[in-house]
Amino acid sequence: MQAVQHLRDRLSQVLDPELGASIVELGMVGDITVDDEGHATVSVALTTSGCPLRAQIERDVREAALSLDEVTSLELVMGVMDAPSKAALMQRARTFAQARAPLTSIPFQTPVLMIASGKGGVGKSSVTANLAVALAREGHRVGVLDADIWGFSLSRLLGIEGEVKAHGGKMRPLERAFDGGRIKLLSMGLLADEDQALLWRGLIVQKAVAQFIEDADWSDIDYFLIDTPPGTGDIAMTLARLLPQMGQILVTTPARAAQRVAARSADFARKSNIRVLGVVENMSGLLCTCGERHSLFGEGGGRELSEQLGVPLLAEIMLSPSIGAGGDSGEPAVLCETSDGPFSALAKRILTDIAPPSGAQGCTARMLDALERSVAPN
Ligand SMILES: Nc1ncnc2c1ncn2[C@@H]1O[C@H](COP(=O)(O)OP(=O)(O)OP(=O)(O)O)[C@@H](O)[C@H]1O
Ligand SMILES: [Mg+2]
Repeated sequence: MQAVQHLRDRLSQVLDPELGASIVELGMVGDITVDDEGHATVSVALTTSGCPLRAQIERDVREAALSLDEVTSLELVMGVMDAPSKAALMQRARTFAQARAPLTSIPFQTPVLMIASGKGGVGKSSVTANLAVALAREGHRVGVLDADIWGFSLSRLLGIEGEVKAHGGKMRPLERAFDGGRIKLLSMGLLADEDQALLWRGLIVQKAVAQFIEDADWSDIDYFLIDTPPGTGDIAMTLARLLPQMGQILVTTPARAAQRVAARSADFARKSNIRVLGVVENMSGLLCTCGERHSLFGEGGGRELSEQLGVPLLAEIMLSPSIGAGGDSGEPAVLCETSDGPFSALAKRILTDIAPPSGAQGCTARMLDALERSVAPN
């Protein structure tokens, strides 16, 4: 009995990705059983069977359930709500939406991806910059926050320079257009000179990160990417409090040492209820002009980490001089990439599978919209 209650409590931490409320509180979780061997069954009812977020909800439920020591295996029974349950869910969703004071100008439906690693120098900033540009080239408006207060680099990597100005009491991120989309960037590099940033410590840094989110105009963005410094427990917690929809993408090299540190980072994320969405292996090897592949930093670290965490391996990015050169010139390497290049492929994976843009989301948010319209006064 206690195990069932523990499992229900754990599942109440899983949020509906569109409504931002607990799937238990929304009434989506039905029967739960746990037998003496730890085999659990959980019934989850979705608003429609073709819910595009089904895979994400399934993944989050599975991850939450199996993180309990009392649960060894899980049978997940996915169903569809009947009309009265749907009406009750909508009522609860509206109450939650009204109660949740918006902490930021970033709508809950906007996917927020934090790029983390635990270890320094593995390519977080390079992945953030190139992924942001790849998403922009797909026609999206991408907010980028350089949360690396001491070691900011995104303004250089993205070729965005200038001085941030305030408008209506809010900082205005600087913008650059890329093909059909655009990037909006805030970074300490656009506010202070390097020596000044280096004097900042601990709490002030967390406060700066919070300000970059709360006191900035991030309206009109489809994606929000956050580049982080290595080993960022406190910053991750600050970010997760302000942006509960945030998920983490872990960057690692194929080396065992990097993989172990990244695993610790994932462990911390889980304890703070931050979802780990997938792993990117960077510096996966060097392709010689003769066509041979050399594994300079070992092999298989990304795949092992993704298997260990039960999350997808999203990309394996080879060592390439164009990545370093693109960073120096402010023209990210992805700009010279073909459509099947590593960063373009990573962006497509995010768009279709890992965090579809909110316009492509369907079930509950669209129903809620329709409901709001139907009850709105003329
Ligand atoms: N796939 C790659 N091929 C070649 N060079 C790379 C690749 N990825 C990153 N680099 C280079 O490695 C260095 C470190 O990369 P980057 O700054 O992106 O790492 P980081 O994890 O953000 O580092 P830090 O922890 O210091 O913030 C940079 O000089 C970058 O140009
Ligand atoms: Mg960096």
